[in-house]
Amino acid sequence: MELLRRQHDEARARLPEPAYDYFAGGAGDELTLAENQEAWRRVWLRPRHGLGLGAGRPAVELLGAPMAAPIVLAPAAAQGLLHPEGELAVARAAADAGLVMCLSTRATTDLADVAAATAAPKWFQLYMEPDRSRVQRILQRAAEHGYAQVVMTIDLPVAGRREREWRHGPVAFPPGVALTDHLGAGTGRAYKPPVGGWYAPTWEDVGWVGQAGGLPVVLKGVLTAEDALMAEQAGAAAVAVSNHGGRQLDGVVPTAVALRDVAAALEGRLPLLVDGGIRSGADVVRALALGADAVLVGRPYLWALAAGGEAGVLELLTALIEDTARSLALVGAATPSEVTAAHARLRSW
Ligand code: FNR
Ligand code: LAC
Repeated sequence: MELLRRQHDEARARLPEPAYDYFAGGAGDELTLAENQEAWRRVWLRPRHGLGLGAGRPAVELLGAPMAAPIVLAPAAAQGLLHPEGELAVARAAADAGLVMCLSTRATTDLADVAAATAAPKWFQLYMEPDRSRVQRILQRAAEHGYAQVVMTIDLPVAGRREREWRHGPVAFPPGVALTDHLGAGTGRAYKPPVGGWYAPTWEDVGWVGQAGGLPVVLKGVLTAEDALMAEQAGAAAVAVSNHGGRQLDGVVPTAVALRDVAAALEGRLPLLVDGGIRSGADVVRALALGADAVLVGRPYLWALAAGGEAGVLELLTALIEDTARSLALVGAATPSEVTAAHARLRSW
């Protein structure tokens, strides 16, 4: 979409190169980063006509949250590097658009401040840490402040080989911007680049997070049928197929391909989300046709934030919702739930 290209180019022109490379980059030779987008293009749509659909109605309810379209704002770290209002601008734009924002553990704004910014439903993304009492306090605060889901990310036991980050060294934070610890004491930590300091969660941790937080768990980072079934056994309320935007192990399966495997294994028993390379309403419809209930979108709204703050993010989200409505009408589905496997035909992977 033209808007995405424009916002990306503006963001790139505004951001210091180390910051731009942190947000844009993938792991290794960035093969998976490229494949994520490429794989959606290999899903051809099969429209059905004659249904009298002048417009699609993209609104859905997912995990108890009303959404203007099956699109969630993916958790992404350090948004204060992109715009002074950071996560607050994103929260307001998401609320105005009628979409759910997922706040990152590695945010530059405390979860209470983001919660207070709007009354809209929000989700909280968790990186597990060795100190369970700390994690429990964060989860309790998330629940107290009204976050409706914990999106637990399991694909970052260690950081991927991110050569762009290594080349620049630690990203410089503007004065007054720091990662928050979400403990509410105003204890901003100095930014450390995401190498080291990570924790490798186990399936036992997944069950513990569900118990300790009292919130349903969306397990993010699943790429195989095997792990989808493990997530189900561990009590996850939903699964998000993701390869972390190509930032972890380069060479892993693109998410469009993994989505089919996971959808076949879960057979609709759990709501299914997917992210990685979703860039248009047609991509949303492709994901629905391959078995997703909703998508998450990452970099496009980060560029929109850097390019135009809250207004930029709202412009992007509005365009994505409209494009989803248009794509539904054009494929011959009045609503997202009417999209079926018959709406897609796969070129060979
Ligand atoms: C991420 N992602 C991510 N995921 C997560 O669970 N917690 C996090 O803090 C972050 N941080 C983060 C920072 C940046 C700069 C990027 C690009 C991504 C991954 C994110 O949620 C999502 O999986 C991908 O970004 C989706 O791919 P696209 O839409 O960016 O292609
Ligand atoms: C990243 C981490 C923070 O991808 O999720 O940079």
